[in-house]
Amino acid sequence: MPHWVTWMSKLSVRNLRKSYSNDDNDVTSVLDGLSFDVGKGEFLSIVGPSGCGKTTLLKIIAGLMSQDSGEVLIDDIPVGLDHHQVGFIFQEESLFPWRTVRQNIEFGLELAKFNLDERKARCDEMISLVGLKGLEDNLPHEISGGQARRVEMARSLVTKPAILVSDEGLSNLDAQTRNFVQEEFLRVWQSTGSTILFVSHNVDEAVFMSDRILVMSNIPSKIIAEYDVEVDRPRDRASPECRAYRSQILEVLRVEQEKAMSRLAA
Ligand SMILES: Nc1ncnc2c1ncn2[C@@H]1O[C@H](COP(=O)(O)OP(=O)(O)O)[C@@H](O)[C@H]1O
Ligand SMILES: [Mg+2]
Repeated sequence: MPHWVTWMSKLSVRNLRKSYSNDDNDVTSVLDGLSFDVGKGEFLSIVGPSGCGKTTLLKIIAGLMSQDSGEVLIDDIPVGLDHHQVGFIFQEESLFPWRTVRQNIEFGLELAKFNLDERKARCDEMISLVGLKGLEDNLPHEISGGQARRVEMARSLVTKPAILVSDEGLSNLDAQTRNFVQEEFLRVWQSTGSTILFVSHNVDEAVFMSDRILVMSNIPSKIIAEYDVEVDRPRDRASPECRAYRSQILEVLRVEQEKAMSRLAA
């Protein structure tokens, strides 16, 4: 297991700005100078109202989209488009329906041209790490929603990315499955030591999982609050400490959500 530890990296975001323009040349400023760091091996969550630019931010960090200005650095080195150092867990289910569990997990290794033996070894390691043994040859429609999320987790981790980002990766699960997958996610994080940036609109989830939580404002968005979650793990979601973080963060979010609603209604 210790060899996993070598692939944790530090992520720095410096003064990131991004606007979109529509067909009428109306410009909407989405990211308004965002700056933060994710430490090596840290589990950082970002919560923010719907439409505040969370997906935009993660796409820029992952090199899937370019920013207008500002920098993304991995281990203090600036990265640009197509840098392939970030593993991405998407909001929507994104497995190939015609590929088996194993073939889905292998996909990134094929792109990176790993040889057959290495592919098999890494895949076997991930399959047992995320608890999918016995399901390797099933197709996506033959596994549950929670298992599918674990396949996606395995597929993102198998190439040993410097940073793992999740864009509301667990939001489409029913509450019971989501709790279980959250625990699995924590277990995998603790055994790989990877650096995780987790975006969520679910405050309970962020409090249960994270070392630290940042709150994003309504657009044009900035980081408006930061919380160190000083609660020992394993955490009890219903404990007074967790609930205290939850209600503080929800109050900050409620104000931003109301601003977002009044913008949409305007
Ligand atoms: N490709 C695009 N072109 C124009 N506007 C966009 C595009 N993608 C997102 N937006 C707008 O940018 C804002 C932020 O979107 P997004 O990053 O998806 O937010 P979130 O993930 O927090 O819900 C929203 O107002 C959205 O409508
Ligand atoms: Mg989004």
